[in-house]
Amino acid sequence: MATLNLRNLVKRFGDTTVIHGVSFDIADGEFVVFVGPSGCGKSTLLRMICGLESVSSGEVLIDGDVVNDVPSARRGLALVFQSYALYPHMTVYQNMAFGLENLGTPKPEIEKRVGEAARMLRLDTYLQRKPTALSGGQRQRVAIGRAIVREPRVFLFDEPLSNLDAELRVGMRSEIAGLHRRLKTTMIYVTHDQVEAMTMADKIVVLRAGRVEQVGAPLELYNHPANQFVAGFIGSPRMNFLSGTAVISGGSVGVDVPGVGVIMTHASADGIASGAAMSVGIRPEHVLAGRAGWNTVRGEVASVEQLGGMSYIRLAAPDMTAQLPGQTRLGFGDEAEMNLPPDSLHVFDADGLSVPRAWAGAEMRQSA
Ligand SMILES: Nc1ncnc2c1ncn2[C@@H]1O[C@H](COP(=O)(O)OP(=O)(O)OP(=O)(O)O)[C@@H](O)[C@H]1O
Ligand SMILES: [Mg+2]
Repeated sequence: MATLNLRNLVKRFGDTTVIHGVSFDIADGEFVVFVGPSGCGKSTLLRMICGLESVSSGEVLIDGDVVNDVPSARRGLALVFQSYALYPHMTVYQNMAFGLENLGTPKPEIEKRVGEAARMLRLDTYLQRKPTALSGGQRQRVAIGRAIVREPRVFLFDEPLSNLDAELRVGMRSEIAGLHRRLKTTMIYVTHDQVEAMTMADKIVVLRAGRVEQVGAPLELYNHPANQFVAGFIGSPRMNFLSGTAVISGGSVGVDVPGVGVIMTHASADGIASGAAMSVGIRPEHVLAGRAGWNTVRGEVASVEQLGGMSYIRLAAPDMTAQLPGQTRLGFGDEAEMNLPPDSLHVFDADGLSVPRAWAGAEMRQSA
């Protein structure tokens, strides 16, 4: 069990800085997910924590101790990669026992730990098999088992499920979540997949180009994104955005969107100049179709996806996707009317930062 603190971490490769002063804290037993686009520095950050990559400046603390100069093997962490890197000539048992044998762990202790991990991961009947005789999901479980037997202070996972097919991913996702509930060990998990992030994390760290955009609980990021990048990254399908200019009315801001009209919002007009560039965002699930109300957007239906339990309708101009409950009569080429309730709107200023609400009562709607 361990706490982790990153203090102003910087990583340079030659002249290129890829991590630009990253700071955040991870509590004991927390499940933290790093998300962000490809190349934003997720793996580099994980490797710096783990000691596989040196720190250019700043500090990594584990349980309050600076570990910058502690070699990887002595940090008490275990890293599980996307590629399982199992030894093909060894059995499952040998693959799991190998690291402990190297550390000189007594044989009975090795047998006990491998046995427990194998039971936990439902690998007990495969211990004498070679990795080539296992499925992708089973191989990934062996790689996780190899980390478990070392009883690390922190587990680090770098996109461990990205080689698996969709169905296996869902299964493994709940296995890793279950593992965390049982072991209660601090875990850091890197993924591209924002569904994984939303469903597994106690806390999500959103990274972009080597900087932290926002840190928070999944629903905190979903309900209160700090900026347009986080708003667009968290949530699937992604938030719709309409750009325009500010129209001040009373204490709140309207956004005049070319070709659409003025979208009224509950965002505060404090510090916003009339005519300033602004964007409004609305999640597909908050768009209402075919009902009279505020902020009506009309357009031709460019595509319809009927999933049975819900439908996606996309308008081409303005580009907007609505997720509707149940099934729809709308079809390609139909004229559709959508309403954007001010309660559900996110508003972003010219720098892409979220504009706060004009009054405290104007909170995001949340279902019970
Ligand atoms: N050894 C290296 N030398 C030079 N540049 C590197 C090195 N390792 C990583 N980088 C650069 O650092 C940046 C961050 O890479 P990193 O692998 O951490 O991204 P990532 O977020 O894990 O991406 P992905 O989602 O594709 O795995 C990238 O621009 C990458 O090209
Ligand atoms: Mg990576």
